[in-house]
Amino acid sequence: MTSGYVVARVDEIPPGTHKFVSVGKFGIAVYNVNGEFRAVTNYCPHRGGPLCVGKRYPIVESSEPYDIKVSGTDEILRCPWHGLEFDLRDGQAEVGKLRVRMHQVRVENDQIVLQGV
Ligand code: FES
Repeated sequence: MTSGYVVARVDEIPPGTHKFVSVGKFGIAVYNVNGEFRAVTNYCPHRGGPLCVGKRYPIVESSEPYDIKVSGTDEILRCPWHGLEFDLRDGQAEVGKLRVRMHQVRVENDQIVLQGV
């Protein structure tokens, strides 16, 4: 028996996509980040914007001018209100100390399950 909120089958959220579910006060989006599922509350810790409406981007790093490396596949989620960016792997803002609320997710019998909601 599955305890928790069943979001979808694994194949319904392929890498680079997400699914929004109306759970809790603001809703939660479950993202497939390189084959791992991450669940994020649809509430930006900056000013409460609808974070999960934001677009995703890959990680861009630079150690010196004109040396730009793009890695990964859309690990960064940008809030649509003021543009703060959050790492979907841990919820941490790219700048500053804000962190988005994340939820535990597990895969059970080919289903993605939100825990503790
Ligand atoms: S509300 Fe998200 S960046 Fe301001």
